[in-house]
Amino acid sequence: MKLLAERLRPRQAVGDTLALFAFEGESRPAGGGSSLDRSLERRYTEAARHEDFKGKEKTLFVFYPEGGRPARRVAVAGLGKASAFDAERLRRAVAMIANRIKGLGGRELTIALPLDRRAAVAPREQAQAAVEGMLLARYEYRKYKSKPDGQTNHLSKIRLGAADAADVAPLREGAERGRIFAEATCLTRDLVNEPPSVCTPRYLAEAATEVAKGAAEIEIKIIDEKEAKKLGMGGLLGVSAGSTEPPRFVHMTYTAPGATSTVAVLGKGITFDSGGLCIKPADGMLNMKDDMSGAAAVIGVFRALRELKPRINVHGIFAASENMPGGGAYKTRDVLRAMNGKTMEIINTDAEGRLVLSDALSYASNLKPDCIVDLATLTGACVVALGPEVSGIFGTDQPLVDKLIASGRATGEKIWQLPLVDEYWDMIKSDVADMKNSGGRWGGSITAALFLKEFVGEGIPWAHIDIAGPALTESSQPYKPAGGTGVGVRTILRFLEQQAGNGSPR
Ligand code: BES
Ligand code: MN
Ligand code: ZN
Repeated sequence: MKLLAERLRPRQAVGDTLALFAFEGESRPAGGGSSLDRSLERRYTEAARHEDFKGKEKTLFVFYPEGGRPARRVAVAGLGKASAFDAERLRRAVAMIANRIKGLGGRELTIALPLDRRAAVAPREQAQAAVEGMLLARYEYRKYKSKPDGQTNHLSKIRLGAADAADVAPLREGAERGRIFAEATCLTRDLVNEPPSVCTPRYLAEAATEVAKGAAEIEIKIIDEKEAKKLGMGGLLGVSAGSTEPPRFVHMTYTAPGATSTVAVLGKGITFDSGGLCIKPADGMLNMKDDMSGAAAVIGVFRALRELKPRINVHGIFAASENMPGGGAYKTRDVLRAMNGKTMEIINTDAEGRLVLSDALSYASNLKPDCIVDLATLTGACVVALGPEVSGIFGTDQPLVDKLIASGRATGEKIWQLPLVDEYWDMIKSDVADMKNSGGRWGGSITAALFLKEFVGEGIPWAHIDIAGPALTESSQPYKPAGGTGVGVRTILRFLEQQAGNGSPR
């Protein structure tokens, strides 16, 4: 797939398909699209009237101009009210176009962005959002289909058009960033979508190795069971005891010359969560191959870092294990000791995420980073609280939390802050150990976060993002086909760039 940014001249023919955008209540398409061809505007007006198209969000129509100029087919997507225009609306509109033209057979697509609305969204940001929307919508997981080619393969060229030559460079830069962000997200999706008997802890470690391989700035250390024992990773070892698959603890390091700060990004890497001896009912187990989505996001982030090269040091850490009820499985009332020495009484073997994260947080804290962010499909309670599309965030440092929420907003990933209620610590007090691994039903995501906090080194700003809801979608959305979504990757990348000081102006 070729991605181009080019100056489009009046009367230029642009090939198969032209994508235009329109705001609600405006009589002309936005941006330079209509200046392409003088007759286009009239044709647009006629066709829009014919289709009752009013530019509302989530609406779209396709028309075929006579004479096939400037394109054989024109797709127009509504962006809603101009006053509410943002990158996410554009991302979704482009995704709608991508879905609409899937299987129509065009090879070339030209996108005329609403560049006249640069005050709301800068051209570079528009280009990035458009390319993300396009590539994320075109994602297909077909590895296990006997017909390997999907519907999206015909398209070989996407061109972002600008009427003004000065816009070509920002469009090119934005498009390239969009490609990097989207490809990283799609790598994460692939890992989540892989069947759980294939995507084991060793497979995840292998995927991380693969990402590190091509990049001089990324180092990787893989800790196997034997070394995990030496390091005292009792949480990880306890959880993996019921499985025939050995656990893996993975530490990637991205180093940038001249970097002045270091961030640690952690992921929960349960490659299948059966619940262990406290086994889940069938419907609760159905999607539990996605319980490694945090780890997969870390791998996706590193895939992008080697291309983006932000000036910041990043540790990428994940603890990977299955949670199975095999003969050696850890049991209720067992006591595990985490790497930082704290002990954890097992109340429920299905609250395993916090146990593997106890070691990941201890390990990360020893590296003394400037902050720690973890991503975890941690609690069903978070999905009950916020629904399937919103991640919960907890943190010990409000500016850190605010930055992550803002990065999420810029990238279309919804994150809502939940409170670390100190009083609830009573719920996870244990009679025999330092804490219990479950506080029961009420406030389940809060007690989970309070548990994690025990393993964060003194004074290190920390944020925990519970992605249990958005990690996987059962029904397709504009740029999220059913399956793993790759949530977190783009939010973290934006956040890292901002920390590095070379991020986008928004
Ligand atoms: N992986 C699950 C959480 C989860 C639930 C993720 C639904 C995605 C969708 C986690 O390990 C788990 O089982 N949590 C338990 C905790 C409880 C036993 C304290 C839960 O949420 O029920
Ligand atoms: Mn569980
Ligand atoms: Zn789990």
